[in-house]
Amino acid sequence: MPHPDAGLDVDMLTTPVTEIAYAKVNVALHVRARREDGYHALESLFVFAEDGDRLQGWASDDGAIHLTIDGPFGATLDAGPDNLVVRAARALQAYLGEQRGAAIRLTKNLPVASGIGGGSADAAAALRLLARLWIVRIDDGELMGLALDLGSDVPACVPSVTQMVMGRGERQARHAVDGLDACSMLLVNPGVGVSTAQVFAGWDRVDRGPLDGSSLGVLCAMGRNDLEAAALAIAPVIGDVLAMLAAQEDVLLARMSGSGATCFALFRSDRALAAAAQAVRRANPGWWVMETRIRSA
Ligand code: C5P
Repeated sequence: MPHPDAGLDVDMLTTPVTEIAYAKVNVALHVRARREDGYHALESLFVFAEDGDRLQGWASDDGAIHLTIDGPFGATLDAGPDNLVVRAARALQAYLGEQRGAAIRLTKNLPVASGIGGGSADAAAALRLLARLWIVRIDDGELMGLALDLGSDVPACVPSVTQMVMGRGERQARHAVDGLDACSMLLVNPGVGVSTAQVFAGWDRVDRGPLDGSSLGVLCAMGRNDLEAAALAIAPVIGDVLAMLAAQEDVLLARMSGSGATCFALFRSDRALAAAAQAVRRANPGWWVMETRIRSA
C-alpha cells in the first residue's frame, strides 16, 4: 500500500481521493446563553471560503489510519491519535465496523486555533474523504451524529455551504442571503492562536439579542460577533486587525470569525479585495492574509 511517507512519489503509484477542508467564517455569531452542559447556545451565519486545507487519501487493507501533515502550518500540528482527522477516521471505522484503513495526507494551509474552523473542517473533510475512499453508504443523520461528537462546528462543515447554525452547532438550516455569494473575502490572522474554550469562558453572559439574517444589509449593520470582546481581552492585536480592515476602501463588513483571532472583510469587487490585501500585507508583513471568495451552495 503506498502512503505519503514511504519515500515514493505516491502520485505516480495511485491517484488519491482529494477533499478540500474549506475555511469557515462566521458572518455573525450571536451568543444567547450558557447551557447547563457548559456549551453555549448560538445563532450564527456560517459561510465557507473556496479555499482551505487539502486532504488526500489512499485506501489500505490493514485497518491502520496513517496521517502525515505538511503545508505552511503543518509543523504546528501533531499527527497522533488526538488529531481530529485521525479521530474522524476512527469514529467512522467504529461506526461501520470497517476493516480497511487509509493513509491520509493533510496539507495545512490554514492557521491553527484561529476561528476559521481548521480542525473542524479537517474532520468533516476526513469523513467525506473516507466515505468516498471506502465507498460507504451512511445515513445523513448518522453522519451528522458522528460529526457532532467530533466538535460543535463539524456538522456544518460536512456540507460546507452557507447555513444558519443554532444550538451548540447541532442544528443547521441552509440559508440564502441575496448578494452574499457575490462578495469577495479577505481573511487576516495576526499570528496568535486563541483557545475557543478560553474565549467562551470570557463571554460576559449578556444576551444581546437574536440574529436577523434576512438581508446582507441587516447582517452587516445589526449582526455581531459576541465573542469579540472576550477574544480581544486575550489577544488585543485583534483590535488592530479589525481597525485595519474597517479602514479599507469599499469594505462592506469587517468582523472577527468564531473565537478569533482571524478576522474577515467582505468586498463587492475583486479590485477592492486586491487593494485591501496589498495594504494589509504591506503594513503587516508577518500577518497571514488570504484572498478568497464565498463558496456557493
Ligand atoms: O465543540 P468543540 O470541541 O469544538 O468546542 C470547544 C470548546 O469551545 C468547548 O469545550 C466549549 O468550551 C466551547 N464551546 C462552547 N459553546 C459552543 C461551542 C464551543 O462553549 N457552542
